[in-house]
Amino acid sequence: MSQVMRNVNQPWLFETAWEVVNKVGGIYTVIKTKVPVTVQEYGDRYHLTGPWNRFTAHVEVEEIEPDHPAIKSAVESIRAQGIQVFYGRWLIDGAPRVILFDIGSAGYKLDEWKGDLWRLAGIPSPPNDIETNDSILLGYLNAWLLEEVAKNDTEHAIIAQFHEWQAGVGAVLCNKRKIDVATIFTTHATLLGRYLCAGNVDFYNNLRHFNVDEEAGKRGIYHRYCIERAAAHCVDVFTTVSNITAYEAEYLLKRKPDGVLPNGLNVVKFSAMHEFQNLHQVAKDRISHFVRGHFYGHYNFDLDNTLYFFTAGRYEYRNKGIDMFIEGLARLNHRLKACNSPVTVVAFIIAPGKVNSFTVETLKGQALIKQLEDTVDEVSTRIGKRIFELAARGHEPKVEDLLTEQDRVLIKRRVFALKRDALPPIVTHNMVNDSEDPVLQQLRTVHLFNNDHDRVKVVFHPEFLSANNPVIGLDYEEFIRGTHLGVFPSYYEPWGYTPAECTVMGVPSITTNLSGFGCFMEDNIVNPQDYGIYIVDRRLKSADESIDQLATFMFDFCQKTRRQRINQRNRTERLADILDWKRMGIEYMKARQCALRRCYPDSFDSSADPYADEYDQDHPHKLSRPQSIPGTPLVGADLSTYDLAALSISAELPGVKDHEDDHDLRPPIQLKMKTPLMTPTI
Ligand code: UDP
Ligand code: G6P
Ligand code: GLC
Repeated sequence: MSQVMRNVNQPWLFETAWEVVNKVGGIYTVIKTKVPVTVQEYGDRYHLTGPWNRFTAHVEVEEIEPDHPAIKSAVESIRAQGIQVFYGRWLIDGAPRVILFDIGSAGYKLDEWKGDLWRLAGIPSPPNDIETNDSILLGYLNAWLLEEVAKNDTEHAIIAQFHEWQAGVGAVLCNKRKIDVATIFTTHATLLGRYLCAGNVDFYNNLRHFNVDEEAGKRGIYHRYCIERAAAHCVDVFTTVSNITAYEAEYLLKRKPDGVLPNGLNVVKFSAMHEFQNLHQVAKDRISHFVRGHFYGHYNFDLDNTLYFFTAGRYEYRNKGIDMFIEGLARLNHRLKACNSPVTVVAFIIAPGKVNSFTVETLKGQALIKQLEDTVDEVSTRIGKRIFELAARGHEPKVEDLLTEQDRVLIKRRVFALKRDALPPIVTHNMVNDSEDPVLQQLRTVHLFNNDHDRVKVVFHPEFLSANNPVIGLDYEEFIRGTHLGVFPSYYEPWGYTPAECTVMGVPSITTNLSGFGCFMEDNIVNPQDYGIYIVDRRLKSADESIDQLATFMFDFCQKTRRQRINQRNRTERLADILDWKRMGIEYMKARQCALRRCYPDSFDSSADPYADEYDQDHPHKLSRPQSIPGTPLVGADLSTYDLAALSISAELPGVKDHEDDHDLRPPIQLKMKTPLMTPTI
């Protein structure tokens, strides 16, 4: 509790994460896409803090000098100790102020701070864990900054929000040093959850029984776990991104989250009707261009009857359900062949692995198709000139006059060059450990080799996409647009941005009821499947049954006509509003209000405050802890006790516009209405 009366109506907000101006995974997407709504609310009272990354900071951040005296003097006091602190505006939508610490320049403090962390909080830190060392440096620098600002400015209330364990040390220090700030810790996963699920553990059925210290110790992450758990316990408000992760956090971190902050997106709507459909066609053509090159010599399928499926994300083979995707593809292949389907599926797996470079074959395919294209362009130009010349002289051109023998030979040479004995490769890169790579191993086991007779072809691209990529020259967003179906059968997925991103771009996707996003959709939309959100049941079904369900979803999708696909894309895109930060951001507001109330209770008149009892543990509306804990969390867990976020959003969704050709879609999206704002007990 604060010692001074601070102004809680104009608070400062400091949000810190390892992924500020530093792209790793979904947390970067949270931070970056949320900026516009946060800046709208806080203006220049909002700062993001994180590590300075030499590769991104100088192109993404415009350095300026801090103008507020309290911040300026805080930054200067850190700089005075020889530590490099970059202050500037992140050049993204909303242009937020960022304070980035050059972790390396604080390296000389590491031993001192590690000793202090042990004395202060009993958190150990072994010598050679670079990631932990970095998070300690970041945490100490961040706490230093907050302490200085709180000292220099006693007028404003200060909120500090810390994301994920890498930023957790700062939260612990705020508590231990009694820094006068209201604190929030938001976890986007738990360390143990991620590790346990990646192994072959029946995670959800055993969640309540794990000996957490022992499990963390066995995996060599005990010290990281200590940081994460301490952060969760040291803050005023503890939150996570979904109900399923709240449930997990309660057992693994031993604090029940105060609320759930589901992830939103910065939804850009195209004013022209069907614009997103047109973009699909344009991007699809570019994917088709790649496909022609990649499958040269075996390009015997009709691109007009070809569907592009994909999965993408960090290479967590089991957690992200890549294993299930591949098995599902094998079954789909079998079914399509069995019914003599005219449809071909090209399935992309995009997950950065250890690679050396593109394979020669991959590059050659693209080069050959480019040569052919250039040759055809040249020949076409010459044909055009010939037609013009003949017509200008009053002759009607005959077909046999148009292609000269020289041109014929030229084209024949290009066609010959496209012959090859080997099958089109299943992977685009040379992998460091090809024979042990789990994706390649499984593709080989299920015999997905891109044979001519296969109806399902596969392309494993073990690198994130970028527009500068010489093979698939599309950035990730354009690529998604060009595909027909995203497939994300995750086993461990606290939220899962990838299907959410598909949704806002009008691309149907498959997710699971073990992902935060899948559960959110299931909880809030009546028949999500009608809107192109297919949810595989990985809770109650056996793995084999889940794979079958996945294969059926994909098979049924292949039966759709083009018209049906267009209609479904229209429906999917209508869900975008639900995922917009303009709505999702409300949950962040509530969490911040709650933190302020807990830290500065004397500054509030609870009768006048709309958020007064939002997370208040003594609030009369709260649901009590379920009387009996269910036999298996999968079957009976009452996740609704964490349902703060989803509920209020679903209650507020207005009608969404239909697209012209979406004939069967006149009724508004049916949302599930739930009892609003149930507050969990801790
Ligand atoms: N992503 C990307 N390029 C790719 C594939 C994925 O930038 O080629 C991004 C994607 O846009 C998403 C993030 O990686 O925002 C993955 O986030 P998610 O929440 O799905 O998973 P996480 O990696 O955080 O576990
Ligand atoms: C969009 C375009 C249409 C195109 C269609 C292809 O809707 O506006 O011109 O025919 O995509 O859809 P498909 O599902 O076959 O890629
Ligand atoms: C984590 C989770 C992912 C989530 C992201 C953003 O990295 O693995 O499911 O979407 O954080 O919250």
